[in-house]
Amino acid sequence: MSTPFPRGAAPTGQFPTVRMRRNRRAEWSRKLVSESRLSAADLIWPLFVLEGTKVRHPVASMPGVERLSIDLIVEAAREASDLGIPALALFPYTDPNLRSDDAREAFNPMNLVCRATRAIKATGLDIGIILDVALDPYTSHGHDGLVRDGVILNDETVAVLIKQSMVQVEAGADILAPSDMMDGRIGAIRAALEAAGHSDTQIMSYAAKYASAFYGPFRDAVGSSSTLKGDKRTYQMDPANSDEAMREVALDIAEGADMVMVKPGMPYLDIVRLVSETFKVPTFAYQVSGEYAMITGAAERGWLDADKTMMESLLAFKRAGAAGILTYFAPRAARKIAAEA
Ligand code: PBG
Repeated sequence: MSTPFPRGAAPTGQFPTVRMRRNRRAEWSRKLVSESRLSAADLIWPLFVLEGTKVRHPVASMPGVERLSIDLIVEAAREASDLGIPALALFPYTDPNLRSDDAREAFNPMNLVCRATRAIKATGLDIGIILDVALDPYTSHGHDGLVRDGVILNDETVAVLIKQSMVQVEAGADILAPSDMMDGRIGAIRAALEAAGHSDTQIMSYAAKYASAFYGPFRDAVGSSSTLKGDKRTYQMDPANSDEAMREVALDIAEGADMVMVKPGMPYLDIVRLVSETFKVPTFAYQVSGEYAMITGAAERGWLDADKTMMESLLAFKRAGAAGILTYFAPRAARKIAAEA
């Protein structure tokens, strides 16, 4: 920050010459001086895909979120497109029988996310498809990497991520989102894309991803919470650190990331602000499953107003400098925005 004063706090005068409440008196005036704005175009909708047709499975720890079979995912894509949501992020609920130590289902061109991507692309909708590049929905132990003697292997895992990336791009994924925090993965994936003629594929790196308890409900949704042994602290970041986040982001940009992400969202708004101000690259925040569960769970008990809390939490990401937000509230927030316009 170059000014000696924090944003908005320059000493412009004194009371009663200055009365800050003047600008807040009327709704029109509040709108006029508003510094941030949330639109449907800022939202990315994460969806959970499951096998079958016409199947919806509620995720108990995420009230209002359902895993959907591919036919219903296509309907959700149409809904998103109608609402002006520019992109979807797809995550699989993989059959436990297809999970293995070598995560081979991750590079099966007919896996759930690849089939779902092809089905959405076949509609011709102008909507971006983001696929996670990470092994956790496919491993028998729930870790994001291959494991030997209790150690998460880095380079061996990156080699599998490349194979996974290739089947995803060939299925039609527009944006690859490496989410496992292995070292060197962005550069390796970028080089493999380039070599295979996929120079236009975007990479949204989960660059500053923390080892967080807020991912609990997501692991329920993809079915990895019961299988996960231990924690992810040898690859995801320590919540105590922010300088380290800057190094992670700088590396991923240098390795060829087009956009970066900070995750989780609300407890890490300081990181969102630092990253967006320092690097001036499109910076996304992931309002993760646990954040969604806190709001919807409290709302179910009548302790919070779900719509108001949702809108306030999403606007806060924009204020912090986020280009956009991955949020399970995407369709609900987009409907709310449309209703208020
Ligand atoms: C997998 C992945 C996770 C999330 C997105 N991709 C979970 C994890 O790292 O354990 C979390 C999303 C959420 O909690 O909403 N690598």
